[in-house]
Amino acid sequence: PTLDRAATIDDLRRLAKLRTPRPVFDYVDGAAEAERSMLRNEGSFADVVFRPHVLRDVSSVDPTWTVLGSPSALPFGFAPTGFTRMMHTDGELAVGRVAASLGIPYGLSTVGTTTPEELAAELPHLRRWFQLYVWRDRGPTRAFVERAREAGFEALILTVDVPVAGARMRDVRNGLTLPPTPSLRTFLQGALHPAWSRDFLTKPPVRFASLETGFEGTAGSFIDRMFDPTVTFDDIEWVRSLWSGKIVVKGVQRIDDAERLAAIGVDAIVVSNHGGRQLDRTLAPLALLPIVRERLDGRVEVWVDGGVRAGSDVVAAIGLGAQFVLVGRAYLYGLMAGGERGVAVAGRILADGVTRTMALLGIRSFDELESDMVAPSREAAL
Ligand code: FNR
Repeated sequence: PTLDRAATIDDLRRLAKLRTPRPVFDYVDGAAEAERSMLRNEGSFADVVFRPHVLRDVSSVDPTWTVLGSPSALPFGFAPTGFTRMMHTDGELAVGRVAASLGIPYGLSTVGTTTPEELAAELPHLRRWFQLYVWRDRGPTRAFVERAREAGFEALILTVDVPVAGARMRDVRNGLTLPPTPSLRTFLQGALHPAWSRDFLTKPPVRFASLETGFEGTAGSFIDRMFDPTVTFDDIEWVRSLWSGKIVVKGVQRIDDAERLAAIGVDAIVVSNHGGRQLDRTLAPLALLPIVRERLDGRVEVWVDGGVRAGSDVVAAIGLGAQFVLVGRAYLYGLMAGGERGVAVAGRILADGVTRTMALLGIRSFDELESDMVAPSREAAL
């Protein structure tokens, strides 16, 4: 397919694979160990069943949603992803521009390649969330919180499922380093992808924008050297004491953990297995979602991510109780396929899918989505 004719996120994935050096594509496309968690995430949407109403006027459909007490034009946002300028030099600013034009929020990663200040200056109207990892050295952690506040970020997303690095086998085999460093293999891969290489060599070097580490090595060794494996619930309270804005905790997979976080007073949790990139053999977050939502009802917002590849997946997650949905790889495939234009195509595919699914379900707004219209399986639907 060409970018203009891409009809699905999978079309963008195939274009991305053609246009990006293999180690970079694999960094995005891959997951931990045998990639079972990721495969489960993607598979979890296949079982969901829609039970539409017919004969309703759906001439105008409004997919507006409310998250953290403010409106979003759609019930999904772009998840934080690290090292985005390696995928394409348009990087985080491209992702942020598309999010702003869709009217949805975007989470900037701690290990992003654009600073919080740059994102804020370029896109003052974007709903900006800052994703935080707690560093071994609490100085930079505190500094990040301070900078996010100064740059007008609305929420901190504390990611808690990276006490140590997951084993991303494709990255090990490919010898991927961050930032990518010259070797025979990268040279050959570069020659095969001249457009990517030209950008990579002529634009400013791809580095962690928000911190001076001088680090070069594998993603895994970076994580293990910088991120603090001693982090506990006490640290969540510590961050709470530093930050008066909203707090979202991402990477929760158990009801008891979710209940403790609700008691601490965080604003939202994301039921997530990090897109399958950390612990392998976990449940798909979508499978956990209904029960977590039921048990936590009202005490904290319950969001979900992992495996969303279509607008209908977003509606499925909302129907099963998600109070917001994050999308990661779907927009990164677009970015690798065609920079900012590719992210815009990914955004359009997802947004059109949401409104089309709503119309076909017979709802004009999410207020009209009844609990018996989306079932987790065929058995549950009958
Ligand atoms: C991620 N994710 C992630 N999460 C986070 O909190 N901080 C980060 O820096 C990153 N980096 C990152 C890089 C890449 C390449 C991917 C694919 C993912 C996880 C991300 O926020 C989200 O949880 C998953 O991407 C959701 O799964 P899907 O939508 O990719 O299936």
